[in-house]
Amino acid sequence: MRVIIKDEAQDVAEWAAGYVAYKINRFRPTAFKPFVLGLPTGSTPLGMYAELIKLYRAGKVSFENVITFNMDEYIGLAPAHPQSYHYFMHENFFNHINIKPDNIHILDGMTKDYAKECANYEKAIAKVGGIHLFIGGVGEDGHIAFNEPFSSLSSRTRVKTLTESTIKANARFFDNDLSQVPTRALTVGVGTIMDAEEVMILVTGYKKADALKHGVEGAISHVWTISELQRHPHGIIVCDKAATEKLENSTIEYFLDIEKSRF
Ligand code: GLP
Repeated sequence: MRVIIKDEAQDVAEWAAGYVAYKINRFRPTAFKPFVLGLPTGSTPLGMYAELIKLYRAGKVSFENVITFNMDEYIGLAPAHPQSYHYFMHENFFNHINIKPDNIHILDGMTKDYAKECANYEKAIAKVGGIHLFIGGVGEDGHIAFNEPFSSLSSRTRVKTLTESTIKANARFFDNDLSQVPTRALTVGVGTIMDAEEVMILVTGYKKADALKHGVEGAISHVWTISELQRHPHGIIVCDKAATEKLENSTIEYFLDIEKSRF
C-alpha cells in the first residue's frame, strides 16, 4: 500500500486530480479502449473534482473516452433530488467536463427490483473489462462506499442498511434533519471495489483519524472495511496531516520517506 501524506486537504485534491489525469493520459484511451474510473461522492472528493475540471479546461485531460461507475446511491431519491448522488455528480463534475452521458453509470435508487439493478451493475462493469482506477472516500467508521462495519469483505453490489453513525454524519446534507436521510442505499461491494486494477482512497480531516489508523495499521477486518485495502496489490491512500493524527510517528516517517522520490 502507498500512503501519500500531504499538508492540507487542498494538496490532497491536487495530488489526486493530477494522478487521475496522469493515469488517463498514460492509458491513451480511445472509443474502443476506454479508461474506466470508479467514482465517489461525499465532501472529501469535491476538491479533486474541482481540480479535474480545471485540468480539463486547461486542455490537460479529456474525458471523451472515459467510462465511469459511481460507488453508490440512496434508495428512494430520484436523480433530480438535490441530495441524490446522481445530482451531486452532475452538479459537481459531469456537467463541467466532456464525458459522454452514455458513459456515466450510477445505480438507480428508484428501481423496484434491487437485485436486478445490482446484478446488472456488476455485469456492466464486467462488460467494459473492469475498472482501472476506483477512487473512494471513507466514513468515520471506516466504511468505503456504503459498506458499513461488518460488511463482507468479498461483498458485491447490493442493498445496505445505513448505520446510525452514517445517517447522523450525512444529516448535514439534509438540513440536519435525521428523518430526511434515507436509511438504505445501493452500493458496490468491498469485493467490487477491490477487483479494480488500482484503488485510491482519499482521507482528510481529524474526524477520519480512526478510520485511517485502522486502515493502515490495524488488522484486516470487516469491522473497518477500509482495511481490506491492505490486501490490494495497488492500493493508494492520499491523506492530509490532520487525518494522520492517530498514526504512529514511525508509520508517518516511513511513508513520508519512501514517497520522497516518487510521483
Ligand atoms: C458516504 C458515502 C461514502 C463517503 C462517506 C464519507 O457514506 N457513501 O462514499 O466516503 O460518505 O463522506 P465525506 O467525504 O463527506 O466525509
